[in-house]
Amino acid sequence: MDEKKYLILYYTRYGSTKVTAERLNDELGMESDLMQIKDVKKGIIEKYEIIIIGNPIYMMKFPKKANFFLEKYKKVLLTKKLAFYILCTMTEEQVLTGYGKNWILNYISNDIFRNVVLYSILGGERYMDKLSSSDRMFLKIGKKIYKDKINIEDFNHTSPEKVREFAKKLNKVIKN
Ligand SMILES: Cc1cc2nc3c(=O)[nH]c(=O)nc-3n(C[C@H](O)[C@H](O)[C@H](O)COP(=O)(O)O)c2cc1C
Repeated sequence: MDEKKYLILYYTRYGSTKVTAERLNDELGMESDLMQIKDVKKGIIEKYEIIIIGNPIYMMKFPKKANFFLEKYKKVLLTKKLAFYILCTMTEEQVLTGYGKNWILNYISNDIFRNVVLYSILGGERYMDKLSSSDRMFLKIGKKIYKDKINIEDFNHTSPEKVREFAKKLNKVIKN
């Protein structure tokens, strides 16, 4: 595990962020390792040159564990090149323009954001019948209140091609 270039870290509740992390790990090949955010311990991230963090959005927020991680390891992260990928219902366009961009800046502090070489939306996936009863209930109540802003349809916008494109872009920006 020593001396590799990339470390992919991810948080997942229902598995799609993990599948995307695994696809990315395959794309980056021998140069990358993969781990859940919750398994990071002192001394691990120090060994890598580039840290890639994969997060889903739940209820308009990054998962708390991801925020704790960013705070806890901030000092080390500020010495690394960082990339983020996000899974959600929003399209890339919605996130990169309008309120989406502010949303990213709200959840990634300005100093950490300065080290971000790439961030991207890699789709998202959700099947209502696989959700916990509380998540299903929150979404249904949200839909009643916010109508068009909340989507309760099943969807799968993930794809190996999006991940391949992300890996290609990453290799390109790292070289520059
Ligand atoms: C309870 C819940 C709330 C969600 N809230 C949002 C949201 O606010 N905005 C959004 O764009 N996507 C939202 N999503 C979609 C998820 O980000 C998407 O399904 C993602 O792929 C889930 O990742 P996971 O399978 O790794 O848990 C939500 C999904 C769930 C289950």
